[in-house]
Amino acid sequence: VNRGFNFAKLRLGIIGGGQLGRLIALEAKRMGLFVTILDPDQNAPAAQIADRQIVADLYSNAGLDALVSQSDVTTFEIEHVDTTTLQNLAERGHTIHPSPQLMQQIQNKYVQKRLLQQHGIAVPELHDVVDVEDIALLGFPVVQKAKLGGYDGRGVVVLKSRADLDKRLDGESFIEQAVAIDKELAVMVARNAQGEIRCYPVAEMLFDERVNICDSVIVPARIPDAIAANATAIARRAIEVLQGVGIFGVELFLTTDGTILINEIAPRPHNSGHYTLEACATSQFEQIIRAVADLPLGSTRLYAPAVMVNLLGEQGYSGKPVLEGVDAALAIDEVTLHLYGKAVTRPFRKMGHITVLGETVAEALARAMQAKELIKVKGDQPL
Ligand SMILES: Nc1ncnc2c1ncn2[C@@H]1O[C@H](COP(=O)(O)OP(=O)(O)OP(=O)(O)O)[C@@H](O)[C@H]1O
Ligand SMILES: [Mg+2]
Repeated sequence: VNRGFNFAKLRLGIIGGGQLGRLIALEAKRMGLFVTILDPDQNAPAAQIADRQIVADLYSNAGLDALVSQSDVTTFEIEHVDTTTLQNLAERGHTIHPSPQLMQQIQNKYVQKRLLQQHGIAVPELHDVVDVEDIALLGFPVVQKAKLGGYDGRGVVVLKSRADLDKRLDGESFIEQAVAIDKELAVMVARNAQGEIRCYPVAEMLFDERVNICDSVIVPARIPDAIAANATAIARRAIEVLQGVGIFGVELFLTTDGTILINEIAPRPHNSGHYTLEACATSQFEQIIRAVADLPLGSTRLYAPAVMVNLLGEQGYSGKPVLEGVDAALAIDEVTLHLYGKAVTRPFRKMGHITVLGETVAEALARAMQAKELIKVKGDQPL
């Protein structure tokens, strides 16, 4: 039973207007919803799709108030938002999922990890950094992370020895044991207010070493079934204990000794779930709508092995995006192109992605690597 929303007139509010918001908005429009987004940029990726935009900062009291008041249900495409304002709005009876309280706990990576630990969920060993000397408490190498505001590898540094201390992050941070990683995995978990849960297949994330940014995603992950089952159970339990409502990208480390640790939880659609648009019965972007509108969750069945490749801005270019190799890449079977409509490219900026299917993971991967070599996002201004 849903909350009695008139689905045909359902007004969905999305906090943030980036590519995740755009892809939610596209699914919402397909389903006939009225979509309002909050974003300061009038040309943001989601602004090009939404019915209406509140043009304001994600920390603007008035902006958040306007968005939530004009929507039947409000959700997030980004966690870096003013949760205090949202908490007041929720207390006044507005529907906001995930809850502002959970968003506040998750947006601080240190608080998030302590919370998971309290629920008995394994995370890398960590320590608060109050003064510089604390950085050495777990020995070296060590990973230092900003508590707030990090994304796409920003706000994370690896300090190899004391000599690296001058590379340390300023501002509120914590340190984490440098984990010996075999594979980085991710599980998308959806949960609605009734407590119904659905998990997507385990994905394997590959990173661009130069900038520590997720580069491609392989589904299903190339791991034994028992490890996949364990990863899924851990991800599911994390969202259960947090009582999350919405969709969550649970990032995991499979360590070289076979242990699974939670790295972090994204309380929103996640890069590792983009492939679901083409490869699953219900995309992560439809699933978040179902979850926050208290509808039955959709099947997460994988129709075919899939590889997603991020189209990152080429090094050496900025300005208006200029695409190369699209014809050749689209000549490969089962390649789907997504571009986010960003006005300006930058080195390593996420400009779009491709999803590539195949009868086997090996086939999808071979096609994806071929397409990846062909397609480049350059810019009209060489740097
Ligand atoms: N404790 C650790 N040990 C080893 N490697 C780590 C550790 N923590 C993070 N990393 C590496 O750094 C990457 C980025 O870390 P993290 O996910 O915390 O940052 P982020 O900026 O939120 O990233 P994103 O936005 O891409 O998810 C991880 O995916 C992993 O490759
Ligand atoms: Mg991460």
